[in-house]
Order: sequence, then structure tokens, then C-alpha cells
Amino acid sequence: MTIRKAARFIFVARRFMLDKYNILTVTHRQTNLKEIGNFFIEDNSVKGIVTLAESIKSKFNISELMYLATCNRVMFFYYQNDLIDPEQISTDFFHLVNNKLASLNGSLSKHVEIYKGEKAIEHLFEVASSIDSMVLGEREIFRQLREAYKFSNTNGLCGDKIRIAMQVAVKAGKQVYDATKIGEKPVSIVSLAFKELMNLNPKKTSRVLIIGAGQTNQLAAKFFKKYQFTNFTVFNRTESKAKSLATMLDGDKYSLEELNSYKGGFDILFVCTGATTSIIKEKEYKQLLQDDKDKKIVIDLAIPGNVDQAVIDSNDLHYIEVSSLKQLAKENMSFREKEISKVKVILEKERHEFKQLFKRREIERSLSFIPQEIKAIKEKALSEVFAKDLATLDDKTLSLINEMMTYMEKKCVAVPMKTAKKLTD
Ligand SMILES: NC(=O)c1ccc[n+]([C@@H]2O[C@H](COP(=O)([O-])OP(=O)(O)OC[C@H]3O[C@@H](n4cnc5c(N)ncnc54)[C@H](OP(=O)(O)O)[C@@H]3O)[C@@H](O)[C@H]2O)c1
Repeated sequence: MTIRKAARFIFVARRFMLDKYNILTVTHRQTNLKEIGNFFIEDNSVKGIVTLAESIKSKFNISELMYLATCNRVMFFYYQNDLIDPEQISTDFFHLVNNKLASLNGSLSKHVEIYKGEKAIEHLFEVASSIDSMVLGEREIFRQLREAYKFSNTNGLCGDKIRIAMQVAVKAGKQVYDATKIGEKPVSIVSLAFKELMNLNPKKTSRVLIIGAGQTNQLAAKFFKKYQFTNFTVFNRTESKAKSLATMLDGDKYSLEELNSYKGGFDILFVCTGATTSIIKEKEYKQLLQDDKDKKIVIDLAIPGNVDQAVIDSNDLHYIEVSSLKQLAKENMSFREKEISKVKVILEKERHEFKQLFKRREIERSLSFIPQEIKAIKEKALSEVFAKDLATLDDKTLSLINEMMTYMEKKCVAVPMKTAKKLTD
């Protein structure tokens, strides 16, 4: 590259800055969670994702692409070679992503959110810091975003442009989780229930009965494992699902009807099913108790509750129920919401830093030919222009001249790089 070309490059880089960054995304805000999977890359094997991503890159002249898919978000973060308005390509883009979307046609745009240029960077940082999440302050998205980058990077889908954006996004995310209270105070009903449970100091060897094997109970099972409980029995309407949860917990499994004949006793009863009437009435509770007089712990997270009110009123038990937990979750969420303004200050600062970094990288790239040119000038001076004169010198003088030339070379290379830094500071 010549000096003129470099100067033009710098001019263009400064003028368009971040305009070639874009995000096409489908999130919990505009799309029902059950439908979000339709926007995932259809073949989700490594090969399937990479092949599809490569064909998207080639079709839309995209130089770098990163793909993130979670249960409440699909995001394509990309850097384009040409300035193409993402609005023009979003429908074709998603038709390539998943065949199921062909039938949506006109309504596809209702689902897809588009962020261009600096707004794309702003959105990326908001995702990293969880303020765009369904559950504000959940750190899981930060891990998922970094995994998505690692995947796209190791599979050759992205390069320097996405690398520097992610570098600053990760820095911003870390700062947000360290310097604000956005992730403090639990807001998930299940984690709040376990907080209450652990306050009661139950023994790790407690006999735990789990009724239901749906999503809430699967999450609860992870908490039981985390807190090192060891003795589990699972009851569920569909026995195969009881079996898979029991296998995960290394426990026993039964159908729901077998509640009426179960004789194993219990210390902790965790109930959460989609049934709209009580599953545990006085008769079932008496059967489960087996005349045991010790105080029991009953956790009922179903809405409406699955444990009959009469059971709660007439037995000696610690009752952990969903409505008080929901209230606590609400309070904790408003606590987290108060942190958003602090998060935004951090993100604003990081966005500014990213712009500086981006400019500097562009200028450095445009000046990258300088070290080779200076080296070539030095070598020509030594091997051609001054070769005859140098041949008459003794070894000590020659060595000194070589050292001086290397010193000059280093200093000359540093001048434009320092100038580039000054231009962007
Ligand atoms: N606590 C929370 O944070 C929270 C969050 C979401 C939901 N909930 C409440 O938790 C309950 C379950 O939600 P989920 O997301 O875990 O549901 P899910 O994944 O759909 O699982 C539902 C479970 O309930 C069982 N079930 C459904 N209808 C039943 C019936 N009539 N009789 C007996 N068992 C029945 C299902 O059995 P099969 O396997 O046989 O289908 C399955 O085990 C709901 O009441 C929901 O409102 C609580």
C-alpha cells in the first residue's frame, strides 16, 4: 500500500467507523419463547452451523459472523464487506437460516430486531451485561456469549473485527457484574425456594420426594444435587419422565397413582405440576407420612398450589409456597432494576473506548506496510547503495553501523504508529 492509499484508507475508516457492524436478532421481547427455536440454524451440529454460516457469509458478502442461540435469543452479529442495509437482507437471511421460516414471509419482520453500526455495538454490550435479558442480571448470558464467540472464532467464522468488539464487550460485562449489584439477590422462584429450604438446615440424608418431572422440577433437581442431598424418589404422571429425572438424581421412580400406596416415608416433599387441582390431599399426605411424627418440609411451587390447604392447616410442617416467593422475587427484581442506570454509565464509557480502539486498529492496519518498507530501505542501503564503502571497513566499525541502522529502523517504524495513536486519542 502506498502513503496515498493509506491516507485514503484512514479517511474512509474514520468516516464510516462502525457502520459495517450489524446485528439481526430474535428475542423474548418480540417472540414467544416456544417459537424462538424456529430461528435457530436448522442443523445444529458443528458442521451444520459452520456450513450454513459460511454460505450466509458468501451470499451477503459478510466478512465475519458470530452466532448465538439460547432459549430466549438468537443473534447474528456480523461485519460486512460492503455497506448494505441489513433491512434489505434480513428476510432472505432468515430463510437461509431455517426452512421453517419460509412460511412466515410477511410476518417474519415482526420477529426480527435489527441493530446497525454503533447501535449493534451498544446492543452487544447490553446483551453481555444482561440488561437485555428476560431475567435482568442473569450471568448465564455472559457465559453463553463468550462460548458463542469461541465457537465462531475456532471455526474460522470471524476475525479481528469481531474479536475487538467481543474483547471490549467482555471487559464491559465483567465490570458490570463486579461494580454493580445487577446480579445480586435471587429472582428465580426455585433459587428463592432453596434459600428458604437451606435456612431450615435440613440433613443431606433427608428423604426427598419429588412430585412432577417438568422443567421446574428438573431445575429443582439441580439445586438438590448442588446442595448435596442424596436420597430421592420421583413421582410423575408419565412414568418415563419420572424415570429420566430419577436417573439424573440416582433415585427411585413411581407413577403418580403409586402415591397412594407408597410406604417409604419422607422428610422433604417438593411438589410442582401443571395440575389445576390439589394432588396432595389429606388422604395422600397421611399415606406419605406413615405415622411419622417429625416435622416435615413441604415445598409447593405450582400455580395453583398442588397441596390442599387442609393439609397445610392441620399438619405440623414448614411450608414454602410460591406466592410469598413471587413477592420476594418481585422486590429483588426492582432492586436489580435500580442498578440499570449505573450499568448504562459503564457501557457508555466502554463504547467510547471501543470506538478509539477500532479507529486505532484501522489505522494500524493501513500503516502495516511501513515496517517492511523501512526494512527493505535499510537492506538496500547495506547491500547495494553503500556496499562498496562498507567493504573497506573493519568488523568493529561494520558492527557499529549495523547496530545504528537497526536502531534507526525501529525508531522510524515507531513514528507513524505513535502518530496513529495520537490521532485516535
Ligand atoms: N415456580 C416457578 O418459578 C414456576 C415457573 C414456572 C411455572 N411454575 C408452575 O409450576 C408448574 C409446572 O410448571 P413447569 O414449567 O415445570 O411445567 P412443565 O415443564 O410443563 O411440567 C409439567 C409437569 O406437571 C405434570 N402435570 C401436568 N398436568 C398434570 C396433571 N393434570 N396431573 C398431574 N400431573 C400433571 C406433567 O406431567 P407429565 O410429564 O405427565 O406431562 C409434568 O411433570 C405450573 O403450575 C406452573 O405454573 C412455577
